[in-house]
Amino acid sequence: MLDYINSDLILSDSADVEGEVAWRSPSNIALIKYWGKYGVQLPCNPSISFTLENAFTETLVQYELKSKPDKGIALDFFFEGELNEAFGSRVQKYLEQLLPIFPFLDQLSLKINSANSFPHSAGIASSASSMSALALCLCTIEDNLFDTLSDDTAFSQKASYVARLGSGSASRSIYSTMAVWGECEGIANSSDLFAVEHSDVHSVFKNFQDDILIVSTGEKAVSSRAGHALMNDNPYATPRFQQAKNRIAALLQTLQAGDLEEFGQIVENEALTLHALMMSSQPSYLLMQPNSLQIIERVRAFRAATKHPVYFTLDAGPNVHLLYPEDIIHEIRPFVEEELLPFCENSTYIPDFVGEGPEEL
Ligand code: DP6
Repeated sequence: MLDYINSDLILSDSADVEGEVAWRSPSNIALIKYWGKYGVQLPCNPSISFTLENAFTETLVQYELKSKPDKGIALDFFFEGELNEAFGSRVQKYLEQLLPIFPFLDQLSLKINSANSFPHSAGIASSASSMSALALCLCTIEDNLFDTLSDDTAFSQKASYVARLGSGSASRSIYSTMAVWGECEGIANSSDLFAVEHSDVHSVFKNFQDDILIVSTGEKAVSSRAGHALMNDNPYATPRFQQAKNRIAALLQTLQAGDLEEFGQIVENEALTLHALMMSSQPSYLLMQPNSLQIIERVRAFRAATKHPVYFTLDAGPNVHLLYPEDIIHEIRPFVEEELLPFCENSTYIPDFVGEGPEEL
């Protein structure tokens, strides 16, 4: 089994080490959902996502050799320019967990500055963009110090592996267009340990739109972490994991063929299945809100009336992602603005689309 434990990545005490690295990394929206995990952040089923473009995190890591060597991570964490102890202590724990992979981390003093392109309170999960941006920075630091990751594939794979340990969905944000995480028949090199890029898709999907309709910015009653854990006792867990495997196989064919109707059927059913799993957990819970359902009903009615290929998906929250091909944007936007924004908090939505993946800054 591949892992990245490497005790050779140690700096000599006399090394003159100082530098900074920065990455911008996007969020992603899953079409087949990761819901349920085992072991150390390993998925119970494969998932596939569109990489987004406009919803991203930018992370700057400045590092220098500690003046006095000691054990432990030395970190100052700033979020949007301000020292943030709550986020800082989460990142600190994450970095401690990564010490077997990056043993040089406790030889350094670190200053991290992170900011999102979307308001922190927008109700958009930022763990995928933020953990992938940080993982990319750590891999670049390793490469700067030890010259170990010059091969692009090796670099991305390690960044995806490290991002996964921070947040499962973050493993998929490393790649352009689409990514598959989890062992999956028909996808070469697919693995539970890291995601791989998936670009074998019809051109219609390469610039697919995703208007993120912000139904609520309130904090979720049940976090994703707790939601995954509730899958352990969900009576539908075993058939669900098999269903996701079957669905991903069907979706991969559809993505290649460019069959929008079939795409929409799979994707919408998958989103509702995710929420059905929440409703059938013990204890049960709801993350959709009345306005999420209002939007879903209107999308279906609009589609029936106009025959436009516009579909919805949801992540683990009340917000609705509206997916459609770029060539009908002028038909869809008036519908969004007139019929859907009344159901959004402060009439807010984030226009996004399938993107090119992370960029080193
Ligand atoms: C519903 O990746 O946020 O968005 O691994 O505990 O950080 P952790 O969970 P997270 O779960 C994402 C769940 C989802 C589906 C998906 O993105 O595949």
